[in-house]
Amino acid sequence: MEDFLPIKKVDHLEFYVGNARQAAHYYRTGFGFTVTAYSGLETGSRDRASYVVEQGHIRFVLSTALGPDHPMARHTHLHGDGVGVIALEVPDAASAYRESTRRGATGAIPPTREEDEHGVLSYSAIHAYGDTLIKFVDRSNYRGVFAPGYEARNGAAEGGVGTNAGGNGRHKGLGLAHIDHMVGNVELGAMDRWVKFFAETMGFAQLQHFDDKDISTEYSALMSKVMQDGSGKVKFPINEPAEGKKKSQVQEYLDYYYGPGVQHIALSTGDIIDTVSRLRDNGIEFLRVPSTYYEALEGRVGKIDEPVDKLADLGILVDRDDEGYLLQIFTKPVEDRPTLFFEIIERHGSRGFGKGNFKSLFEAIELEQARRGNL
Ligand code: FE2
Repeated sequence: MEDFLPIKKVDHLEFYVGNARQAAHYYRTGFGFTVTAYSGLETGSRDRASYVVEQGHIRFVLSTALGPDHPMARHTHLHGDGVGVIALEVPDAASAYRESTRRGATGAIPPTREEDEHGVLSYSAIHAYGDTLIKFVDRSNYRGVFAPGYEARNGAAEGGVGTNAGGNGRHKGLGLAHIDHMVGNVELGAMDRWVKFFAETMGFAQLQHFDDKDISTEYSALMSKVMQDGSGKVKFPINEPAEGKKKSQVQEYLDYYYGPGVQHIALSTGDIIDTVSRLRDNGIEFLRVPSTYYEALEGRVGKIDEPVDKLADLGILVDRDDEGYLLQIFTKPVEDRPTLFFEIIERHGSRGFGKGNFKSLFEAIELEQARRGNL
């Protein structure tokens, strides 16, 4: 079947935040990103400031409104800091818009072309869950550092056509390399509607299915389905709360984000022990599972390359399936509201999401929820 919405890769994620300058500092000194471009009053942007930060092939844009009436200001007021835009690089932004809206997506930004001395950047956007936009970006005719209106920072140079697409891998930072997956939390009963949305309007296929038997502890029940694009490069798991004894972790998110949105972003590394050690040194806080998790680890997951004592030291989790194993760890929420957090993941063949860890992990999350008075 022909792919009506081909995707090259994740182009960037844009976070709407209360103070982009301070957020850029956090992602730089905490997570090891480099600021590569800036747009604000000094570059002629009158109503917003944005910092582009890059590491490996990961690119985030941290944006803040300069006044109270800007849509970003309203987004931040309602949701707190969070992901406003998931941008995907496509060969044709007008076609992506046409094909997705024809299949039922609601348009947000009709096909638009912006031009400067570095070429033409084309984009469009549709509405996804909550107030989140999915943006289609075609940068095949653009050589600038990020987009018209942005100036390079820290020696980020204008390249050949397309060389800046999706982060160019030059900024090694702490070894974070790619966005592995982006998880959305939606309301009770809405998961299947969003599964249908990604299938019908974007041509994604369902990868795996966990039901509440797989991922419920005594309290923190949820259901999850994973949607991915034709190439397997873009993965969107979608969670909804399930009825449990007490408040689901997904419901806690929905209550504090005031609606659906991006729950966590998984970033891949080739050396999770080194990356997580350095993240911890920089003050990034992670969830902790009980030390008993490591007692029977090799019995559960078999032989792995990494020393178990080192993993236990850092709190890194392991899971194995038919195809291989993976190592993963989750940060605590990265803002005061218990909303967005990050996952650090290293894959050794496994294409799963750490199903075997759900129980221990959710028990650790519940401990945090209880401390917040939200269980
Ligand atoms: Fe994940």
